[in-house]
Amino acid sequence: MKILVTGKNGQLGRSIHKLVNTDANIVSNQIFNDFIFVGREELDLSSETSIHQYFSNNNFDIIINCAAYTAVDKAEQEVELANQINHLAVKQLANIANKQKARLIHISTDFVFDGESDKPYTEIDVTNPINVYGQTKLAGEKALQAVMSVNAIIIRTSWLYSEYGNNFVSTILRLGKERDELSVISDQVGSPTYATDLASAILEIIKKKNFKNKVQASEIYHYSNKSNVSWYAFSKEILEIAKIECRVEPITADEYLTKAERPMYTVMTKIKIKDKFGVKVPEWKKSLKICINKIKL
Ligand SMILES: NC(=O)c1ccc[n+]([C@@H]2O[C@H](COP(=O)([O-])OP(=O)(O)OC[C@H]3O[C@@H](n4cnc5c(N)ncnc54)[C@H](OP(=O)(O)O)[C@@H]3O)[C@@H](O)[C@H]2O)c1
Repeated sequence: MKILVTGKNGQLGRSIHKLVNTDANIVSNQIFNDFIFVGREELDLSSETSIHQYFSNNNFDIIINCAAYTAVDKAEQEVELANQINHLAVKQLANIANKQKARLIHISTDFVFDGESDKPYTEIDVTNPINVYGQTKLAGEKALQAVMSVNAIIIRTSWLYSEYGNNFVSTILRLGKERDELSVISDQVGSPTYATDLASAILEIIKKKNFKNKVQASEIYHYSNKSNVSWYAFSKEILEIAKIECRVEPITADEYLTKAERPMYTVMTKIKIKDKFGVKVPEWKKSLKICINKIKL
């Protein structure tokens, strides 16, 4: 099995890389030995030609697309670039996967929803993105599904954080040390996702016979950690675990204006992915502790 992982320098790409190098089951299993990790230097998703050239010399059994244009606010201005990477490149990858008879695992987002719901979103709930990032990610999902009726899975995740790069957890840890008080939004609610948990779920899926062996209709799945929280309560927990003394004041989203509007509620059900692949969905507080302990090492 030759497995390509895009976005090797991103949070999820690096988390998959970490697990591939440490998971005894994978390291000892010849079938999964052939992982190839690429960043934009090897495969630039903003360029149709780069994508074409890369795959004319390389064939894969599985493509895991972790790369994306993820700058939510900047996307409001860089619409064309965001659309190229999150939509058109995904369509091109899907066409290539079809040609190479490869399976494609593509990562999408809770931002495909408008956040108006008062109960957890299922995979068949109506999408209605309210910012450019969400619109381009949804266009990517739809293009993928139009090209690949079989052999693809889309995993929507939310509030991704890790011990790598900049994310909400690392920002709160930094600001908490620098300041006496922080103001954090308390009326937006979602489920955080530790990138290692998602990486582990993806590796679990590709080991499963019902992913590898059968031709299956392409499907969307949701994955995040268990339970939900506001950004405010999330930041309080981060500071408490890290034993950083800093007051946190709740504010409303209206009081913290950003270029891109964010959905107010994006909790998603995880029943489908658990039933189909038996993946673990750890409680968000438990995973947060693990991540913060890694950051502090
Ligand atoms: N972060 C979140 O809160 C969140 C929430 C929901 C869903 N998601 C989705 O989850 C997936 C993984 O997110 P993440 O947090 O791991 O993202 P990330 O840390 O921002 O990583 C994205 C990666 O994509 C790469 N990339 C950007 N433009 C590229 C291009 N033109 N060609 C090739 N690679 C390019 C980046 O490369 P460089 O390192 O060179 O910039 C980066 O390594 C994405 O599909 C994202 O949309 C994320």
